[in-house]
Amino acid sequence: MVNKLVKLAPSILAANFAHLGEQVADAERGGADRIHVDIMDGHFVPNISMGAPIVQSLRQITDLQLEMHMMISDPDLFLAEFVEAGSDSFLVHWEGNNNLHRTVQRIKALGKRVGVAINPATRAAVLEEILPDLDQVVVMTVNPGFGHQLFIHTTLPKIHRVSRMIEQLKPECELEVDGGIDEVTAPLTVAAGANVLVAGSSIFAAGVGICAAMQQLRIAINGDAH
Ligand code: DX5
Ligand code: ZN
Repeated sequence: MVNKLVKLAPSILAANFAHLGEQVADAERGGADRIHVDIMDGHFVPNISMGAPIVQSLRQITDLQLEMHMMISDPDLFLAEFVEAGSDSFLVHWEGNNNLHRTVQRIKALGKRVGVAINPATRAAVLEEILPDLDQVVVMTVNPGFGHQLFIHTTLPKIHRVSRMIEQLKPECELEVDGGIDEVTAPLTVAAGANVLVAGSSIFAAGVGICAAMQQLRIAINGDAH
């Protein structure tokens, strides 16, 4: 029954950028809850992706929430620019941020939703102190930096631990998973307690069309298409 509440956050990293507008519109038709935008700087992760101009363009063609996954060394420096471009929420990493509380408060002061992401080797316990301030937590199920990687199964017990922590400390906080989510792994993460699933290649590169791919994911989670 909890499965009905699972949200899909298509990650445009796997989209065809020459047709980005149409692909996001398709994802919206397919019932996307939000659009996940992966921001990489070639420093925090060994890859570069996109910046605020993409967000500004997307803002003109969709009312869906635009969620920024900030895989950059100093997210604080870029918050204002991304807010100006039309971002609705920010996911910032625990790793490499010595002033995470300050970053989180800055995002809240900008009136935006905030989440903290943890990498596969980072333990769940680091979330405990910051959790009451968050709208969502992201358990990375791959190492950040690239799409189309294999799901890391050892993250499943951690998802479960984070889920219990959320229940105790802030039940309304969302538990998002990101990386390697497909028809096989999505139900495993939902069973472990995830309620927002980021999916890039299994939505935009499935080869069956975006709406159909989203429907298949929902069927895998729910046993029906709703
Ligand atoms: C990885 C990104 C993910 C990525 C997921 O660093 O944070 O959001 O787009 O891609 P898939 O779903 O292909 O693993
Ligand atoms: Zn991401």
